[in-house]
Amino acid sequence: MALKITVIGTGYLGATHAAAMADMGFEVLGMDVVPEKVAALSRGEIPIYEPGLEELLRRHVAGFEGSTGRLRFTTSYEEVAAFGDVHFVCVNTPQKHGEYACDMSYVDSAVAGLAPHLTRPALVVGKSTVPVGSAARLAEMLAELAPAGRDAELAWNPEFLREGFAVEDTLHPDRIVTGVTSAHAEKLLREVYAAPIAEGTPFIVTDFPTAELVKSAANSFLATKISFINAMAEVCEAAGGDVVRLAEALGHDDRIGRKFLRAGIGFGGGCLPKDIRAFMARAGELGADQALTFLREVDSINMRRRGHMVELAREAVGGVFLGKRVAVLGATFKPDSDDVRDSPALNVAGQIHLQGGQVTVYDPRGMENARRVFPTLGYAESAVDAIRGADVVLHLTEWAEFRELDPVALGEVTAGRHILDGRNALDGEVWRRAGWTYRALGRP
Ligand code: UDX
Repeated sequence: MALKITVIGTGYLGATHAAAMADMGFEVLGMDVVPEKVAALSRGEIPIYEPGLEELLRRHVAGFEGSTGRLRFTTSYEEVAAFGDVHFVCVNTPQKHGEYACDMSYVDSAVAGLAPHLTRPALVVGKSTVPVGSAARLAEMLAELAPAGRDAELAWNPEFLREGFAVEDTLHPDRIVTGVTSAHAEKLLREVYAAPIAEGTPFIVTDFPTAELVKSAANSFLATKISFINAMAEVCEAAGGDVVRLAEALGHDDRIGRKFLRAGIGFGGGCLPKDIRAFMARAGELGADQALTFLREVDSINMRRRGHMVELAREAVGGVFLGKRVAVLGATFKPDSDDVRDSPALNVAGQIHLQGGQVTVYDPRGMENARRVFPTLGYAESAVDAIRGADVVLHLTEWAEFRELDPVALGEVTAGRHILDGRNALDGEVWRRAGWTYRALGRP
């Protein structure tokens, strides 16, 4: 009989995973403790902007034309336990307030909520990003709390999806990593991932700590790569070099590769910043903090980018923000997302506002979330409206629509033709030809 799957936690990760599992042919029950989320998902609505996710959901939630009806949602752990053979834990692990460590309370309460209802053999699979050592602890907790005892088994299966590509990354992952302690668990996970495995996706089987560490290591590497090129941008600025050409030249070495070498105002979002901090905190607990002190530097190079952008903007308006109008293009931490968590763009906008600048923000998708986080900033309905009357324009998130802007037309409505490109994504020549001073990070 085909396996039945449940997904606990229906945020970014969980909603996508649940819909993808249904798409792979399984009966899926998604679970969340927030009734409003469950109600919305059952209506085929997602609270976030993620290309393709709503369509995928509606292909499988009952009530839509031609839907398979394989995907349902509930708020009940009891129902989840009764329904599923394999339970994926997809709750979030945010940074703790005032600490580097991550908050494990949602993961712990998911396992504690589910376990007492597990009366028959089941595999609980953790997908959340957790400090190494968590899986071993949770496996013990599960065996203790579940009436099925050791037949309630744990596995660890980190998720590598990128926002904006969540559907694609979940349906066609570039690798599947599983930490298991039995051949049975491996067999079940091979069954779950039969479709991507058949497409040739590497399936890597490890112990618990290695599986947990793969995720922390991958995000640390990506963060390091970005901070590396941003450090080169600082040197380029001091030496009169061009970091974009430098990155291009580096990228031709296929040991280095061209990806993740875009210099700019740095990384943000719900993952990279908090994951490298949680990794440092955990290494400290394990007595291996020295191994990761370089991540502190990675973090500080990254945070310095934001301050640097503020300084360039200050220079552009003549040394003080008071009474100056600043247009900010972009609020999300990256394009094709509505996520403003730890967004460099919004951080820069906020700093300028707090220093007396009159900031007007426009973002194609992130306005609602940005307003919630920073209600005191000004918001405009379009890029043109944001730029109208501005003394300086800051390009901080590289949405495609900003590359299509017409610098000639915008030159007519702006107060000062100054544009700072915080993402090295605009065509500087085009702006200069239209009479603008164009300045980008790490470029002459
Ligand atoms: C990241 C990882 O890529 C993903 O594998 C993991 O599962 C979760 O964390 P995500 O947070 O969606 O995914 O964003 P990502 O595309 O990695 O970008 C992170 C940040 O780095 C963004 O703010 C982006 O603008 C910035 N970035 C990325 C750069 O500044 N330069 C680059 O070259 C690449």
